Amino acid sequence: MQNQGAQAFAACRACHTLTPGGKSVMGPNLNKLFGRKAGSAPGFNYSPALKASGIVWDAKTLDQYLAAPTTRVPGTRMVMKVGDPARRAALIAYLKAETK
Ligand code: HEC
Repeated sequence: MQNQGAQAFAACRACHTLTPGGKSVMGPNLNKLFGRKAGSAPGFNYSPALKASGIVWDAKTLDQYLAAPTTRVPGTRMVMKVGDPARRAALIAYLKAETK
């Protein structure tokens, strides 16, 4: 599970860091993601849509967003989808472990 998640995250690494104080370059730093309000990483220029979404990130909201970002949050600037539910589950478990 953990390994699959790490593999799945390889596709996200181009844009996201996970470590505390990690850079937000193409996408926001994802440290302390769980329990965080969508669009709230300091210093990242989010879409108005994501900021206004009212989402708080947990396993369920991440599953919905990663399955179809632009359906869950029309107007979001993140377009990468993870279509396979098992891959999403592994990825979310990985994120939970790595972004504490
Ligand atoms: C091409 C760059 C890119 C890739 C690849 C990418 N993202 Fe993103 N991601 C973004 C951008 C840009 C945003 C901000 C979207 C917005 O402001 O609407 C974002 C936002 C997010 C958020 C919301 C963060 C917050 O602070 O609210 C999560 C969670 C996320 N991405 C997870 C992932 C995962 C998991 C992957 C890999 C499957 C991934 N992203 C791949 C660019 C990317």
